Amino acid sequence: TAPVIGPEERLPLGAAEADPRTATRRRYLMCEPRYFTVSYSINPWMDPSAPVSTDVALRQWHELKATYERLGHVVETIEPAAGLPDMVFAANSGTVIGGRVLGSRFRAVERAAEADHYRRWFVERGYRDVVMPESINEAEGDFAWTGEVLLAGTGFRTDPGAHAEAQEVLGVPVVSLRLVDPRYYHLDTALMVLTEADPTTGRRAQIAYYRDAFSLGSQRVLRHLFPDAVIASDVDAACLGLNGVSDGYNVVLPREANRLATELTARGYNPVMVDISELRKSGGGPKCCTMELRD
Ligand code: ARG
Repeated sequence: TAPVIGPEERLPLGAAEADPRTATRRRYLMCEPRYFTVSYSINPWMDPSAPVSTDVALRQWHELKATYERLGHVVETIEPAAGLPDMVFAANSGTVIGGRVLGSRFRAVERAAEADHYRRWFVERGYRDVVMPESINEAEGDFAWTGEVLLAGTGFRTDPGAHAEAQEVLGVPVVSLRLVDPRYYHLDTALMVLTEADPTTGRRAQIAYYRDAFSLGSQRVLRHLFPDAVIASDVDAACLGLNGVSDGYNVVLPREANRLATELTARGYNPVMVDISELRKSGGGPKCCTMELRD
């Protein structure tokens, strides 16, 4: 887990002394959208006949990266590869917990080659424990770490068998959740972790999610585990507002997610809005572009 940032080195937009929310410094891996386009369709957001600007995507991505850096986080980058327009969505290529890396295996042939680029990045950076999955596994697209358990989505991309595999490889308890709405094809389009549980202080995890994206059984599981969750509205979900990135206090969100931002402010968080409209044409938001390196 990331070290708690002490009062002497508060993040620039950090909490006031009285605020119970605490930002912790994160390490992220991102991939510049140099070859970004929408040339195939593997989710309902993608329309290959609609205009897409690589330049606009690049500008928005650099602003997202600069936002993380302004907040005090560390951003690592991987070199993009020509012919892999979705490689910008780094979240789909690895799940890193406690320095262990579980790579990915994509459902769509168009994205298959991304997995090995990321695997090589980890190996070259000296990660010793890198395992490639046997089951279809779209990594943090479908896996969300709460500090205690790994919430794991299935239904559209990641196979349920990948959940058991993740539990074995990463050595953390996994809770399976079923997604039912094709617009919210990855768990990270319907749920985000706002605060990670901290066993040493007894702090509970807090999440935000969009109920209707989940099967009735999974809704019950979420209600049981997270009774004080932030429940997102239709409009929050429809701009991919749940595809945000929280450091425990600052929550980077698509700028259209106003309602969610208001709710988060009321809960003591600091929403930080970014424009990610071009990447949304591929079904992505801030979180999709961001893999967390929990070394
Ligand atoms: N076009 C990409 C796909 O359909 C978008 C992936 C978004 N990533 C995510 N973590 N939700 O696979």
